[in-house]
Amino acid sequence: MQTRKWWKEAVVYQVYPRSFNDSNGDGIGDIPGIIEKLDYLKELGIDVIWLSPVYDSPNDDNGYDISDYRNIMDEFGTMQDWEKLLAEMHQRGIKLVMDLVVNHTSDEHAWFVESKKSKANPYRDYYIWRPGKDGKEPNNWGSTFSGSAWQYDEATDEYFLHIFSKKQPDLNWENPTVRKEVYDMMKFWLDKGVDGFRMDVINFISKVEGLPDAPNPEGKRYASGSKYFMNGPRIHEFLQEMHREVLSKYDILTVGEMPGVRPPMAIDYTAEERNELNMVFTFEHVDVDSGPEGKWDLRPFDLIRLKEILTKWQDALHEKGWNSLYWNNHDQPRIVSRLGNDTKYRVKSAKMLGTLLHMMQGTPYIYQGEELGMTNVRFDSIDDYKDIEILNMYKEKIEQGKKHEDIMKSIYVKGRDNARTPMHWDDSENAGFTTGTPWIKVNPNYKEINAEQAIKDEKSVFHYYKNLIQLRKNNDIVVYGKYDLLLKDHPQVYAYTRTLEDEQLLVLANVSGEEQEIDIPSHIKPASEPEVFVTNDEKQPFNQKMTLQPWEARVYKYKV
Ligand code: NOJ
Repeated sequence: MQTRKWWKEAVVYQVYPRSFNDSNGDGIGDIPGIIEKLDYLKELGIDVIWLSPVYDSPNDDNGYDISDYRNIMDEFGTMQDWEKLLAEMHQRGIKLVMDLVVNHTSDEHAWFVESKKSKANPYRDYYIWRPGKDGKEPNNWGSTFSGSAWQYDEATDEYFLHIFSKKQPDLNWENPTVRKEVYDMMKFWLDKGVDGFRMDVINFISKVEGLPDAPNPEGKRYASGSKYFMNGPRIHEFLQEMHREVLSKYDILTVGEMPGVRPPMAIDYTAEERNELNMVFTFEHVDVDSGPEGKWDLRPFDLIRLKEILTKWQDALHEKGWNSLYWNNHDQPRIVSRLGNDTKYRVKSAKMLGTLLHMMQGTPYIYQGEELGMTNVRFDSIDDYKDIEILNMYKEKIEQGKKHEDIMKSIYVKGRDNARTPMHWDDSENAGFTTGTPWIKVNPNYKEINAEQAIKDEKSVFHYYKNLIQLRKNNDIVVYGKYDLLLKDHPQVYAYTRTLEDEQLLVLANVSGEEQEIDIPSHIKPASEPEVFVTNDEKQPFNQKMTLQPWEARVYKYKV
């Protein structure tokens, strides 16, 4: 039996505050800027905002390096601004999910400043310190942002672990005092009225004892230690403790960002009776165009593989756990550039991709600008990029003798700054994002793609997304219906049904720029005249044989 929950029926919108809306002309988005745009989000119809970190931070990784969990970053405003944001959201019936970044802090966090001082400092054990081994790092793990995952500290002649940048030391979750500090901080925000947490790389918090060297068959300078820090031995214990101490006391939405998680494990994380989290963000589907060397190792997109992955998740979690649904966030390139066509068929393919995702089972997440069909960006100079992951990778590859053009090619396809250019509000200078100089350049196509234009145009991606959100709200089948894949081996068409009691949806999406003829399998037998539920093209009657136009999406609803 499936339980009904508000967070299963909700649609979430992610705001990346730095790039959303600048109210004071300093070139950086801020909290008063978000307040100005709440009516726009209300109009879109979303239920929840996930707000990327707004806490005090030196911004080595744009706020994912927190120096004070209980304060707001000056660039974004004050605690009063934040309180006003929450009140204005709640007044409009929109909930607020905050980002919880507790695998690591900033090295400028007071705990780390103390921890560094001496081996005897009471905060020493808040972080993961180890002596060197044979004059080198304690193990061979590489950092996600290039180089070693260890940083040497002269004062105490030891290294600290940082899976991300060296300004993001990992917290030591083995230490019960650290866990208690985190739980108290979570309660601080929940008691202010927040409606949930998106938990940054939360499946990294338990590390394998002894922190062993990672397998390194190719003899690389640094190897991936992920099997020793992802889904570690105490992860379920920690999450269950967090649930007992904090989460269970509030009616909230929780979503754990979890690289390297597969369905059986995702059920352990999200099954209601296990008391851990509501849902997880998987990476499997967004890694579909990556090779064995990781995200920068570009591979052609394979629809059959994508279908296999998404279907595996839909099937496995049905009635056992709960899925999140996303194409985009601040770490991923823009979906219309990635799987659609961002020139001639931009609007049509953006709508098709929206349909494909929003008709699945799970809680959908929309990333700012996705509802406008915003695209990837191509800056010629590496100096126009701001993301630490891009900059470190570029430097490392140049040092290895790789060519500028080749590196840029992978940045154009996969770089995180694709998603981080300012939101396009209108066709005025800097897309109406700021009256100052934006912290990162605006995508030059803002004159054509912007919110003002999209709101005026009934056929825009914006209005289409608005409709997708309403369809979910008004039809239980979109939320609770069972998913079944059709045409599994079709290389260009993604087709599936959703079934709830005597109703069925048939979802057809042409993920290509060519016409596709399809035969609907004979077991699909509508018992009532199929009506067009939603389409990005002309309405066509249902037939066992149908032709889909380039990038067409078509959904029928009927009785079975
Ligand atoms: C995942 C976040 O989404 C990403 O932006 C960040 O760089 C890492 N975690 C480290 O916090």
